[in-house]
Amino acid sequence: MQEKLIEQILETLTLEEKSAMLHGAAFFRSGSALEKGIPAVETSDGPMGVRNEFPGDSWIPIGLSDDYVSYLPSNSAVAATWNRERAYAGGQILGEEARGRGKDVILAPGINIKRDPLCGRNFEYMSEDPYLVEELAVPMIRGIQESDVAACVKHFAANSQETDRLWVDTIVDERTLREIYLPAFQGAVQRGGSYTLMNAYNKLNGEHCSESKALLNRILREEWGYDGAVISDWGSVHTTKQAAESALDMEMSVTADFDEYYFANPLIEAVQKGEVSMADVDEKVRNILRLMLRLKMIGPKTGERKQGAYNIPEHRESIKATAREAVVLLKNEDGLLPITPERLEMGAPHPLTGYRKKKRIAVIGRNAELMHAGGGGSAEIKALYEISPLMGLKIQLGGNVDIQYAPGYYIPGKKDVNEVNWQEKSLERQVDCRLAREETAEEALQRQEIERQRITLRKEAVALARTADEVIFVGGLNHDYDVEGRDRDSMKLPYAQDQLIEELLEVKPDTIIVMVAGSAVEMPWREKARAIVWNYYAGMETGNALAEVLLGRVCPSGKLPETFPALYSDTVTYKNGEFGKPEKVIFQEGIFVGYRYYEKEGIQPAFAFGHGLSYTSFAYDHLQVETDQAKENGLEDVAVRLSLDVTNTGAMPGAEIVQCYVADPVCRMERPVKELKGFAKVFLAPGETKRVNMELPRRAFAFYDVECHDFVVEPGEFTVSVGSASDRIWRQETITL
Ligand code: GLC
Repeated sequence: MQEKLIEQILETLTLEEKSAMLHGAAFFRSGSALEKGIPAVETSDGPMGVRNEFPGDSWIPIGLSDDYVSYLPSNSAVAATWNRERAYAGGQILGEEARGRGKDVILAPGINIKRDPLCGRNFEYMSEDPYLVEELAVPMIRGIQESDVAACVKHFAANSQETDRLWVDTIVDERTLREIYLPAFQGAVQRGGSYTLMNAYNKLNGEHCSESKALLNRILREEWGYDGAVISDWGSVHTTKQAAESALDMEMSVTADFDEYYFANPLIEAVQKGEVSMADVDEKVRNILRLMLRLKMIGPKTGERKQGAYNIPEHRESIKATAREAVVLLKNEDGLLPITPERLEMGAPHPLTGYRKKKRIAVIGRNAELMHAGGGGSAEIKALYEISPLMGLKIQLGGNVDIQYAPGYYIPGKKDVNEVNWQEKSLERQVDCRLAREETAEEALQRQEIERQRITLRKEAVALARTADEVIFVGGLNHDYDVEGRDRDSMKLPYAQDQLIEELLEVKPDTIIVMVAGSAVEMPWREKARAIVWNYYAGMETGNALAEVLLGRVCPSGKLPETFPALYSDTVTYKNGEFGKPEKVIFQEGIFVGYRYYEKEGIQPAFAFGHGLSYTSFAYDHLQVETDQAKENGLEDVAVRLSLDVTNTGAMPGAEIVQCYVADPVCRMERPVKELKGFAKVFLAPGETKRVNMELPRRAFAFYDVECHDFVVEPGEFTVSVGSASDRIWRQETITL
């Protein structure tokens, strides 16, 4: 029925009207043919909330007070929860807010693989592991689309660096593409049903992703059977004919010459000259019409379309629930955390007046009060509010504790990231953005001034720490570093934070170190620090959630969705030099990304993939592993069923993330030591036991065989491991398939 209506509508459209549907007529809106009943498609960023309103042809925001929105946890924070329900809830919020703001497509989720810690957009992405990404992206997409808004899974594909992002030719071998960089996108479209997908800026094996027949026609359309709409990244289309013959449907960009877009007048002329076939144009129009039908923008159900809602209390509560589960307790010596109420009790009453001295908490570090919502690039949003860690502590503790703040380190203003036209400028080729260059006299002067400020602030912070009963340092990165359009040039903490941390630990060995960032940083002080907490950008309720964890009102349950290497020089991309350079980047490491690499090389990370501690403890018992030996089993059929008991053996309610890894120790192809193929999060009251069940399809044991261009399971022995982290395996079983 739907396809018949599509054909009927298609027949009524002129070439000009078809072209109007296939490109931007404003920065975030397609053209339309209203007299033919064809509305414009309204799109908006981004993964952490619905971006502010722009006029159609300017990057200067309209700036009214009606586009404040809920500020959601970043995808990295969602990934740290390892909780499919939180991903689904996040999608529901994002979709409902997008519909509430009148949008048809929300340009999210970003699901590129976190291949290197320095990629500027890592904060927008989920993990180094394709299985974890897929398992969280699928529910998120379903959640979004419940509100009759299209998800737009991005950036397809292998967009894992920002340097030279429009032109860098990313060279990825077939097996690596199939085992690491494509699976989450395949899951997003086949299991998640993402109504739209955004091609990446970069070239993949010589072709721009926006016009790659290999990627868009053969893999996405023919092999995966995708019938959704492909939207270009903004300014990622470079030709008319080649893009028209590829499976790209809608061209968006960052300049206001909308009639000159490749799919505008140039496309009309190309069709009139016979250079582009009307059939190719019609196929694109069909995909856009199908999108509109699915969203109830047109068709028989337009009266039933959801209205959505933004800035509602339920969204904020759900965001807080995710933020709580996103906190990762990396280290906690001798139960230094949580800061119990006893430690914050006021002193003994004065014998005469009864006055009782308040305990003092020194909160040190700019990330204790810095707002993050408005940064990061296209993921920026106007948050209705943002609770900082400092405010969260004050909200939770009220007036009976003396909380004193010191910035601790100085952040020089970075002018260019606040440039209002940054998005258009970010597409200008900046191949030398990371190359060192001579310092100007003015910069030298500024550097001295910065150094003076740093020393002053450091002294002030250390002095405050001396006077406090508890010291909490909140540092890390911000959206000057976790930002679209550039990669970091070091994994070290900026602003001389390491020196400040060392000095704080000198005067207060019990200083609690809290890191807020979007990707790994070097922590040279991690042996000396007794308690380390990690917080990805976790949205508007971050401060409350973090305070609840630090104060023991919530038990931390987050686990790292990426490896934290001890040093950047431990990474494979540092060694092979294949990251963050312009022109061409070869994924020489192949499938050995993240923990797959460190385990193969036996390199000890600072904190392992899947690592995260709790205030309580868990026991794993009675592991059972059953194999289903049916030979005719397909890749999606269950091959192994495993179940085990998990018990909360501590005194606090908590949640454990049971991880299941698979290994193929004897295989004709080189394979990782082990690969994540299952996980389950279980919430347990003190003393409670629950049975956890997981099913592994045959695909979980397969590798991609480039000879037959498909996934194959080589018969033989496999090991199935169960643990609470990639480096905390509780039990292994050997099975034969
Ligand atoms: C940006 C980003 C993409 C975003 C789009 C619209 O350049 O790459 O993620 O959705 O353009 O702002």
